[in-house]
Amino acid sequence: MNSIIELPGDSWTQAVPAEAQDRAIDNLEEGRVLYFPHLAFALLPEEEAFLRPTWSSGGAKNIGFERETGKIWGVSGSETEKAALSQMLRRYADSTRELLLNLFPTYAASLMQARTSFRPIEIAGRSSSYRKDDTRLHVDAFPSRPTGGRRILRVFSNVNPEGKPRCWRIGEGFREYAQRFASRVASPIPASRFLLSLTGVTKGYRSLYDHYMLGLHDQGKLDSEYQRQSPQEPFAFPPQTTWMCFTDQALHAVDSGQYLLEQTFHLPRAALRRPELSPLTVLEEIVGRPLCARPR
Ligand SMILES: [Fe+2]
Repeated sequence: MNSIIELPGDSWTQAVPAEAQDRAIDNLEEGRVLYFPHLAFALLPEEEAFLRPTWSSGGAKNIGFERETGKIWGVSGSETEKAALSQMLRRYADSTRELLLNLFPTYAASLMQARTSFRPIEIAGRSSSYRKDDTRLHVDAFPSRPTGGRRILRVFSNVNPEGKPRCWRIGEGFREYAQRFASRVASPIPASRFLLSLTGVTKGYRSLYDHYMLGLHDQGKLDSEYQRQSPQEPFAFPPQTTWMCFTDQALHAVDSGQYLLEQTFHLPRAALRRPELSPLTVLEEIVGRPLCARPR
């Protein structure tokens, strides 16, 4: 299936040759995972204390951090410990941003940095509803945070200290997946998306695009036969490695792993080299109508 492309980079800060930039952007926009087996995010000695599941508070699966405001959530610990963990997440946020600017200079003017997260909980054996069950193949779509057509680009680094890989499966192409499930997504109830926004259930207006993306996410996860039978390629990302993909396009499932850093970025469709491959364009073709009045 060839859904994972290995890249040689081993530095967060070094300039990337033009040829390597081209290879990276083409594969990324075609929906592949870019894998950097030699790019580790090294923790400082004092940060190794954060490699324990008990830092996560109240059953939250992720610890979240917002670089712009310095806000951190989902963490238990003293104010001093929270500040130290924030510092680690800020370093990751800065490193991933620099990496992306080196790899994709044409994205620079439009790249929006969203949440940074630390995931200290083991995935395997964690029970959840089918919607939240990320061991089922899915593309990312957020019920409360509509993207309005913006892309979701995520960078991941395995920081596991016990040699445990992060085990993924990558599914078929976005077009095939969307063609299979789009007809099963019911049209939205009139005014419901406006009400969701008005009552604060969603942060902003849920566009038709967001409605369809959530529908694909749910319908795909619900279909147990599809989950068992559809083409899928397993891949184990070892500790001290980094990878990235458009998670709104690359169909993925996570079977196991513990201690992961993740940084989310958003990008408007207009910033892509090949906007025709974006989920927004592909879905508009399948559904036969515009899905965002003003794509963001
Ligand atoms: Fe996901």
